[in-house]
Amino acid sequence: MHIDIISVVPGLLEGPFSHSILKRAEEKGLATVRVYNLRDFAIGKQKQVDDYAFGGGAGMVMMVEPIAKCIENLQSQRDYDEIIYMTPDGETFDQPMANSLSLQKNLLILCGHYKGVDERIRERYITKEISIGDFVLSGGELAAAVVADAVIRLIPGVLNDETSALTDSFQDHLLAPPVYTRPAEWQGMNVPEVLLSGHEAKINEWRFEASVRRTRERRPDLWAKSGLGESDLKKRKK
Ligand code: ADE
Repeated sequence: MHIDIISVVPGLLEGPFSHSILKRAEEKGLATVRVYNLRDFAIGKQKQVDDYAFGGGAGMVMMVEPIAKCIENLQSQRDYDEIIYMTPDGETFDQPMANSLSLQKNLLILCGHYKGVDERIRERYITKEISIGDFVLSGGELAAAVVADAVIRLIPGVLNDETSALTDSFQDHLLAPPVYTRPAEWQGMNVPEVLLSGHEAKINEWRFEASVRRTRERRPDLWAKSGLGESDLKKRKK
């Protein structure tokens, strides 16, 4: 997979992609991420990328021309499966969206700033608009890093067995169960006995029940989506 990101603050994206799993994905040749500075496509001596909003009001708007120039330059080098705009009024990002994006080959992500981009950019180029939640960030960069992280870790080979994505929260509409490591007893707090038993079927059963309990308590909305009910729980027990 290849991800290109367009930003007016490219420095904000240096950290996330030079560490840990994302760095390893790049080193293994499984995913590459390139960040483009929108200012390199700015017009005129001032390198201007934003301007006042027509109709007045507070806040600047990102101009059409630099973004169009940047996107068209990148499109001449690559066919994008999606051209994504990070915006609080987009579709809310979730695990199913991460799963489907992880199947794509080439993604282009545009990070908004100020009051956002001129609407004509959205109409002409953008194929998908993503929000990472109902709050407003100062720019789309951190949101783009969140999306890229969630997507890249799903690419086969990026994670090793111990960090397999198959047991993540949300993959089956259930939250993940609690996890423990050594020591088995700490300050009078004990790890559940079954996890020390070595009995795989019982351990799986315990984890499933703990997932169900956690999901019902914390996320009744997810529990409803899981399609599981009392009869499934009883069936598993038999
Ligand atoms: N830009 C600003 N806020 C955002 C959000 N919540 N999601 C995606 N992009 C954003």
